Amino acid sequence: LSLPKESGLGGAPYLHLFQDFWCPTVHVQGVNNFQKHFDAKDNDVFVASFPKSGTTWLKALAFVIVNHHRFPSFDHHPLLSSNPHQLVSFPEFILSHDLHDNILSLSNMSEPRVLGTHLPFPSLPESITKSNCKIIYICRNPFDIFVSAWEFFPKLKLVSLPALTFEETFEKYCNGIMTFGPWWSHMLGYWKESIARPNKVLFLKYEDLKENSVFHVKRIVEFLDSPIIQGGDSNEVIENIVNLCEFEKMKNLEVNKSGYIENITEKKNLFQKGKIGDWINYFSPSMIEKLSKIIEEKLSGSGLSFKVHS
Ligand code: A3P
Repeated sequence: LSLPKESGLGGAPYLHLFQDFWCPTVHVQGVNNFQKHFDAKDNDVFVASFPKSGTTWLKALAFVIVNHHRFPSFDHHPLLSSNPHQLVSFPEFILSHDLHDNILSLSNMSEPRVLGTHLPFPSLPESITKSNCKIIYICRNPFDIFVSAWEFFPKLKLVSLPALTFEETFEKYCNGIMTFGPWWSHMLGYWKESIARPNKVLFLKYEDLKENSVFHVKRIVEFLDSPIIQGGDSNEVIENIVNLCEFEKMKNLEVNKSGYIENITEKKNLFQKGKIGDWINYFSPSMIEKLSKIIEEKLSGSGLSFKVHS
């Protein structure tokens, strides 16, 4: 495969190496503002992820769980008409502009707040790491992340970059160059923290969530100490949550129901198949060998591993 594409995987000038990660240049100021001006509250819930790992899905799940007392009806739920990125914003992006107003609107959000971040753990604002707020991290196998990103980034209205082939983009990815990368230090930062502070960071894998949604959504409910777990109908509620956030619904929200997404994209379908293992249709044998070796090398001794086929 050698499709020339503009890509957010491509490095400078779109990406800027900042605090040891590849930050979108347009958001360096937003990250600085987030670090300096954001005040975490003890009951905040953060959804953290490396891009293309299932962020939208986890944002939807966390929003529904945390707000179940406000929106108990699954037939008239805000998620039926709003994109998860509208319901759960990324402070590092919104604080890139209108700092005063956006800080104010963040502090006026109804509590508990659910917010998202793509920042690596060491770059989180101190108030997040030091307060009692909770972080749920989702990670995905690096093969599927790459393909999802390869298909996704050209759909954003980014600054024009020289077209890179699939192979050239892959080489950069293998060197850690992708928005918020390197992917290995991003994952390992949260992985280690989840082991050191299991009450602070819940580490989820996309593949597990996909294959056993009810079980892992229950883990989220328990981690957040949600009142859902005490209800006599908790199993039914959890099944309803899983159904409300299932792939086709998320895909339709991305495509149809969001002015937010319309503003940043030209094409409409931002998701591919929402599957484990679609990368097999893209990678050559030498690419498989190369990425497998990098995964082994980078994650060696950490205890973190991935399922790469369904
Ligand atoms: P694909 O591009 O492989 O389809 P992010 O939200 O971090 O950008 O991740 C996007 C990926 O998550 C896309 O993967 C998308 O299909 C997948 N995804 C989103 N919602 C999902 C859901 N409810 N179930 C399974 N996968 C989902």
